[in-house]
Amino acid sequence: MPQDDPAAKPSAGRMYDYYLGGTHNFEVDRQAAEQVIKLMPFIPSFARLQRWALQNVAVELTQKRGYDVVIDFASGLPTNDHIHHRAPASTTVIYSDFDPSIVEYTREILAADSPNAHFFQGDASKPEELLNNPDVVKILNGRRKAAFVLWGVSIFMSDEDLKHALQYLYDWAAPGSCLAFNAQGSDGDKDSDAISGTIEMYKRMGVTLYSRSLDHYKELLKPWTLDEPGFTALYEWDGVESVGLTAEDLAAFKPMGGNYSGYLTK
Ligand SMILES: C[S@@+](CC[C@H](N)C(=O)[O-])C[C@H]1O[C@@H](n2cnc3c(N)ncnc32)[C@H](O)[C@@H]1O
Repeated sequence: MPQDDPAAKPSAGRMYDYYLGGTHNFEVDRQAAEQVIKLMPFIPSFARLQRWALQNVAVELTQKRGYDVVIDFASGLPTNDHIHHRAPASTTVIYSDFDPSIVEYTREILAADSPNAHFFQGDASKPEELLNNPDVVKILNGRRKAAFVLWGVSIFMSDEDLKHALQYLYDWAAPGSCLAFNAQGSDGDKDSDAISGTIEMYKRMGVTLYSRSLDHYKELLKPWTLDEPGFTALYEWDGVESVGLTAEDLAAFKPMGGNYSGYLTK
């Protein structure tokens, strides 16, 4: 069967790369991204905040909490602002994304000097496929005390898929494992033109976005236990000043809700 031409249709992952100022995107991605930016001019700085927080998560999980296995779902491109650049070189980082064009690009990006960072094609809705992939099984070599990361993807997942993935990871993981979770779009203003327009725009690309309340996310996350201090809005995340966002940027994010994030443990 012929492979789909990746340059024919926008990809959420490559659009995200464009928001972040990256070069791993096609004209079709740039055009779609520009339409989203028209509706939500703050999106590039919002993406910057989200990616910065992910680096902060990488430091927390590895250098502060001591996990030496990080398994990241829906990673997007593993550019130099991603997990393995912030984790000690000895950390095993398993990235994944369901978009084959993203997986293709990672061959250029993941340099030979990152031997402990790996990238696999995988659907975050079916973590069993990634975790039972024979290459992943070999890399993990029986290690199940892990830090999972679900960052920047929850809005793309239905309740059913999210519930399944979270329960599967909980059952698979050894006690003491951790989950860094970004409750995208939580408590956003669904009626704002920015949100409803964006949902409509992604729909035309064949991508459904699911916006939900933080309480709803908390229900879906059971039986994972939320660590203190609970969910924190990304614009109040520890060290956020270093991102260099203006008060105007932060005020503009309001319709998106807090993009609340937190750590959960088994
Ligand atoms: C907004 S980017 C987030 C990238 C990265 N996690 C971050 O926070 O910086 C969303 C990524 O999720 C991927 N994605 C969406 N749904 C997915 C799914 N069900 N399984 C795996 N990847 C998915 C897209 O291909 C895209 O690369």
